[in-house]
Amino acid sequence: MNKVDLSVSIGTLQLRNPIMLASGTVGYGNEMAEFIDLNTIGAIVTKSLSLKPRKGNPPQRIVETPAGMLNSIGLANVGVEEFIKTKIPFLQKYDVPIVCNVAASNIDEYAECVNLLTDENSIKAFEINVSCPNVKEGGLQFGNDLAAVGKVTAKVRAATKKPIIIKLSPNVSYIADFAKVVKQEGGDAVSAINTLVGTSFNIFTRKPKIFSVTGGLSGPAIKPVALAKVLEIKRNVEIPIIGIGGIMNWQDVVEFMIAGASAVQIGTLNFINPSAAKEILSSLEDFCIKQNLNKLSELTGSFLI
Ligand SMILES: Cc1cc2nc3c(=O)[nH]c(=O)nc-3n(C[C@H](O)[C@H](O)[C@H](O)COP(=O)(O)O)c2cc1C
Repeated sequence: MNKVDLSVSIGTLQLRNPIMLASGTVGYGNEMAEFIDLNTIGAIVTKSLSLKPRKGNPPQRIVETPAGMLNSIGLANVGVEEFIKTKIPFLQKYDVPIVCNVAASNIDEYAECVNLLTDENSIKAFEINVSCPNVKEGGLQFGNDLAAVGKVTAKVRAATKKPIIIKLSPNVSYIADFAKVVKQEGGDAVSAINTLVGTSFNIFTRKPKIFSVTGGLSGPAIKPVALAKVLEIKRNVEIPIIGIGGIMNWQDVVEFMIAGASAVQIGTLNFINPSAAKEILSSLEDFCIKQNLNKLSELTGSFLI
């Protein structure tokens, strides 16, 4: 039994603690289960699923940068049917909420995916990826268009009673407007942020280091941007926020919660230390005890300006 109450509510989604594993960084949980007891984490977010399987982009798809990584996976995934057949049975063995991340190339396809998945008991919520910078169709187009984000939210809202989280793009000038539209159209929460657009060149060949020229920048480099986006949403819209971007340790989690996050997702860190979530959780508990906090959620939005 924990000495501190680490539980959080994200809209109607109840989590035992605020540490979620970010989409695309832990596949469908199989490999992760070798490093960490999945029953101890708040939730696992699946790799973005599309209606049909996707091969993704040709290599090179990942490049290291001084403070993070660039990726251009292009939403490679097994597709909804295969996910239900072979991936859900594995995850069902654990007592961990599955948040199913969905990506699509048009608005109806988002709703169709959610509709096909909504009766799966182990799926506790949907995270809708309107913000992937690495796909030609869909991807950033949606994330940059207020009306499109509104329409996607309304359509998936009509397709399920389960909580809906819309994953927002940081590649916009005023992210709070997008959170406002999500709330208006019945979304339960937003997650912020997806990757920033970045690139990198080989100085000898003068060619881009990744095949698709630009990719998504993640890791410590994006943390200050992510924190500012979370803060901007918190100050302007009343909607639960899941903070994502460059979280590398428990102090980063506390910082995101102070800025306004109810929960957080760990992404790039999973590639460096796949058992990081476990270490972060025990340090968070120690922090609460030392700070005389009975409930970790008291930190959310507790910034003083
Ligand atoms: C290799 C890789 C693949 C990713 N794939 C997805 C994806 O399929 N869907 C999605 O919504 N986000 C995806 N992301 C974005 C992450 O979920 C997260 O938003 C981003 O990496 C920022 O967090 P971080 O700095 O902690 O990594 C991916 C990130 C990485 C590094």
